[in-house]
Amino acid sequence: MALQRLTKIVVGVPNVEQTADYYEDFGLTPAGTPGDARRLATVDGGEQLVLTTSARRRLLELHIGADDRDDIDRIASNLAALDLPAQRTADSVTAYDPGTEVTVTAAVAPRLVQPDIAPPAYNGPGHLGRVNNRAPGVERTGRVRPRRLGHVVLGSTDQEQSQRFLTEGFGFKVSDTVPGLAAFLRCSTDHHNVLVQQAPLAFLHHSSWQVEDVDEVGRGATAMLEKDPSRHVWGLGRHHVGSNFFWYLRDPAGNFSEYYSDLDCIVDDALWKPQTWSGMKGLYNWGPPPPPSFLAPDDLAALMTGAHSA
Ligand SMILES: [Fe+2]
Repeated sequence: MALQRLTKIVVGVPNVEQTADYYEDFGLTPAGTPGDARRLATVDGGEQLVLTTSARRRLLELHIGADDRDDIDRIASNLAALDLPAQRTADSVTAYDPGTEVTVTAAVAPRLVQPDIAPPAYNGPGHLGRVNNRAPGVERTGRVRPRRLGHVVLGSTDQEQSQRFLTEGFGFKVSDTVPGLAAFLRCSTDHHNVLVQQAPLAFLHHSSWQVEDVDEVGRGATAMLEKDPSRHVWGLGRHHVGSNFFWYLRDPAGNFSEYYSDLDCIVDDALWKPQTWSGMKGLYNWGPPPPPSFLAPDDLAALMTGAHSA
């Protein structure tokens, strides 16, 4: 059958407790049994973030859900054809990508069925979609709770090889590319679940979490900034590639986390036309210009120095 989705990420940080508290503020819910790691859940996806101790911040593990053992067999033989070592169980296959320094596991998992939440009705010129009522977005008072994990963006010291590992090895599809720099890859109907970009070192640029609509993107980020304005990175805006609304914030370890809504969805591969993009146009359609620290996080130099000992 097919790959379905990202099921879980394991992120290593030097400050687990502080970072876990941040993701609770972000709207994730504590899950699992307390131990060395802190586990957090989304509303629809369940336990999707594990934070564990690491000398420098990085993505340690990426977990992918697949429909059945045929998918696992296919991935295992594809990895073997690429001469990439892999560990196999009946229901899973695991391999390591040196470029991103991430261990990727594909395992048989149930499909995630999300409740059908229609976007709110809007008024427009000549169109009264909502009458005699205030907009739902201004009436909401509850905390923003991400529905599920959407994607991760990774720096790779060998973008080409990491892309081959994920596409030819694990079966990700290419949605769009920035030639020589990055590729938007999907293992679900989301426009992208992993973006791998060429970088001087392997690092996690950001994780991205789905919320219902643009009001939830704005309300979530506003609540985060009311508690600590220094968390702000970039937003509110709309990406061009992927089309999603976004707002990026910084966790206490230096990883960015994104609220997103209204991402492009690809259900028929034959009808999607991958394109190549360059420059700022691909990055965003509207919004404030990205700060330099979004493009090259402030701690990269320190991470590179520390990388030799981590
Ligand atoms: Fe993103």
